[in-house]
Amino acid sequence: MTHNSTLLRAAEIIGGADAIIIAAGAGIGVDSGLPDFRSNNGFWKAYPALASAQLDFTEVASPSTFENDPELAWGFYGHRLKMYRDTVPHQGFVILKEWAQAAPMGAWVYTSDVDGAFQKAGFLEEAIHECHGSIHWMQCMDDCQSLLWPAESFHPDVDVGKCRLLSGLPTCPGCGGLARPNIVMFGDWNWNHIRAEKQRRNEAQWLETLERGRGKVAIVEMGAHESEIWRANCAHQPTGICGSELLGCGNPNGRT
Ligand SMILES: NC(=O)c1ccc[n+]([C@@H]2O[C@H](COP(=O)([O-])OP(=O)(O)OC[C@H]3O[C@@H](n4cnc5c(N)ncnc54)[C@H](O)[C@@H]3O)[C@@H](O)[C@H]2O)c1
Ligand SMILES: [Zn+2]
Repeated sequence: MTHNSTLLRAAEIIGGADAIIIAAGAGIGVDSGLPDFRSNNGFWKAYPALASAQLDFTEVASPSTFENDPELAWGFYGHRLKMYRDTVPHQGFVILKEWAQAAPMGAWVYTSDVDGAFQKAGFLEEAIHECHGSIHWMQCMDDCQSLLWPAESFHPDVDVGKCRLLSGLPTCPGCGGLARPNIVMFGDWNWNHIRAEKQRRNEAQWLETLERGRGKVAIVEMGAHESEIWRANCAHQPTGICGSELLGCGNPNGRT
């Protein structure tokens, strides 16, 4: 297929779909001016302080850094919180929303992003699954009472060059201990997944409705590193927009 005919085929699939699933990773934020994770403009470039201190992203994004050096951990997450709050989702989100609204059986967003960009772009909170959590929610480091609360009252002041929190550390309303973002980190045994689990259950329900209605689904994958969301290795691979894991694809007459 030529470039043009591939695009036309994709447009045909999206236009003819009863429902749309949008699967998105960090790359979707790049055109809004955000760093992704692995590419040249990813976190290492966005956080020179981490590079000069020879600190790997995976080291900083961990509960042990929150325990041992909370100002560094909150320097990283506090800066991201502010950056995501200040970012306006790009025009692509508007287009995706139009596709979602035009689909007769609705749309679903499945994302490993934690920035809340889909909510900000006007997608329904009830139709989003943030599989790695959200930076806009907080939890206790010890998850003492299984509480989650919005991060909106926390306004971190960060020395970006040094990647350190200058203002006070956020605390848990239950025990007064250190609070952390409700994001799953590396080596994380205490992530409170109640919110994400509820989203996952909503997702399963929606998928069941589609299944019952035998709806034709178009899956649009954007800016997700291959291993993060799913591998397009099923019969529909030529379209490049098939989510085999989520829908258990394999039926060549089924979904694209
Ligand atoms: N905005 C965020 O919330 C954010 C940002 C960075 C990392 N993360 C976290 O890091 C983890 C790893 O993320 P990942 O695997 O998605 O990141 P990744 O960096 O591995 O993958 C990003 C993908 O996006 C592609 N990409 C780059 N620029 C693009 C553009 N302009 N348009 C479309 N695609 C583009 C890259 O080629 C790559 O395939 C995720 O679990 C996520 O929680 C989140
Ligand atoms: Zn607590």
